Parts: sequence; C-alpha cells; structure tokens
Amino acid sequence: MERYTESARYIRELIGDRQPEILMILGSGLGFMAEEIEDGVSIPYSDIPHLRVSTVDGHAGKLVVGKLEGVCVMVMHGRMHCYEGYTPQEVSYPVRVAKLLGVNAMIVTNAAGAVNRSYSVGDLMLISDHIRFMGTSPLTGANLPEFGPRFCDMSNVYTKSLRETAKSKAKEMGIELREGVYFYCAGPQFETPAEIRAISVLGGDAVGMSTVFEATVAAHCGMKVLGISLMTNMAAGIIPDSVLDGVDVLEAAEKAKDGFSALVRACVPYLR
Ligand code: HPA
Repeated sequence: MERYTESARYIRELIGDRQPEILMILGSGLGFMAEEIEDGVSIPYSDIPHLRVSTVDGHAGKLVVGKLEGVCVMVMHGRMHCYEGYTPQEVSYPVRVAKLLGVNAMIVTNAAGAVNRSYSVGDLMLISDHIRFMGTSPLTGANLPEFGPRFCDMSNVYTKSLRETAKSKAKEMGIELREGVYFYCAGPQFETPAEIRAISVLGGDAVGMSTVFEATVAAHCGMKVLGISLMTNMAAGIIPDSVLDGVDVLEAAEKAKDGFSALVRACVPYLR
C-alpha cells in the first residue's frame, strides 16, 4: 500500500489541482492520442517511484494528465506487458495508483487478432468479457482491502451501460462495432493455429496479449471499464498459408487510428 501511495503522491505534486476522472490505457496505434491532450502534464514512467517502464516499440512510456473532450483524463502512453518480463501485478500497478488519485473509470484499448471468422482486419470490437487462463492473477498475494475484497466478483468487468453508450455512439458515427470476448494469451509469440482453434471453441472472438490484468484490478477496486479492441490481423491459421508479423500489426493499427480515436473520444464524456 505504501508503494502505491508514494507513486500517487509523486504524480499529485506534479499535476497540481488537475483531477483526473478517467484512466486511458492506449494500446498499439492509439498512442498519438496522448499528444492531443490539452493543458497536459507529461510524466515519464521512469520518474514515477515504483512504476515499471514499457520497453515495446510504439509504447512511449509516459503518463499524461490533462483534458480530452473537456474531461480531465490520465493517459498511459504505453503500457506494460507480461511478455516483457513483468508480473501481472507490475502490469496493472498504474490502475491502483489512478484509483488513489480519485479515478473511477478506465478506457482500455488494444490491438488483437480476430478469431471470429465473421470479423475483418480493421474492425473494432467492444470487449463484452474476457478469458484469462494463462498467467497468475494480479490479485495473487495478500489482499489490500483498501482496494477491494479478497474474492472479487467478475460478472460485470466491462460495464454494460458504457458498452451501450459505445454502441450508440458508433452507430451515430457510422462506425461498425463488433462485440465479443477477448481471450488473453501471454505471447510474445503469436498463437499456433491449433491454439486459435481451441480459443474459438472456448468462446474467444479476439486474441491479444494485454488488457485482462488491468481490467481485473480495475474491477477489484470498483472502477467502470470500457474496453475496445482493434482487429489488426486475422488470428493464426484463419487465413490458410498466411504468416503473422508484428510490423503488419502496427501498420494495421496505424490505418485504423482515425475511427478508433473518434469512437474513444465520443465515449469519454460518458465515463465521468
Ligand atoms: N495474437 C495475439 N496478440 C495480438 C494479435 C494476435 O494475433 N494481433 C495483435 N495482437
């Protein structure tokens, strides 16, 4: 608890009387939104006591606190992943720091592979729920009751009312929005075609290497969560004889960024 408090105190000193209401964790391709924050204070992760540093290309590693759509947000430009060698606790650490700073809602975005054969590259998917069979829980170890209960309900991690809002905003904007289950795989290698067939049978619509730990910790401390995935590729084996490449993933994310960011922006005022 002391570590979380120290991190929060450090950030509080730098952001002054800005009161962030939403934590935004931006996945591959959406990082540029951090540059669109008005009246922002930018803090490198490496300066914040106890925070880990993101090591992946396209993940800048800084926290920006300022206004987006008139709402004070705390943006993580770059996130940590377990495949970088971090534990689920380290990956989700900033969520609890945000909670201590008074944040009660989170928008989390990611790049994902489409498992559902009716999806296409470039589609956006609202996360209705997730499956995480790999890796330990970020809630493993002594419970901190200041954040939430030992046994945490996971029935409504991705807040229904926010999903309804996102759907109606998408409709208004003429953006097609899928809704489905995000299946976590630890990576960093992409999945095998056999793994993707298994994931499909188990109920996954999209597969990715992030999000579930942050969402679990957010649910534990009572935050509302909106999760949106961008399909940057069809998952392994869905298209016969194709190969997956991380560069293609980033390129697909880059192409889809306008619609993705427009939808995220439209939802921001409804999360406060
Ligand atoms: N698998 C896992 N993570 C991903 C993928 C994928 O196919 N695409 C983007 N992130």
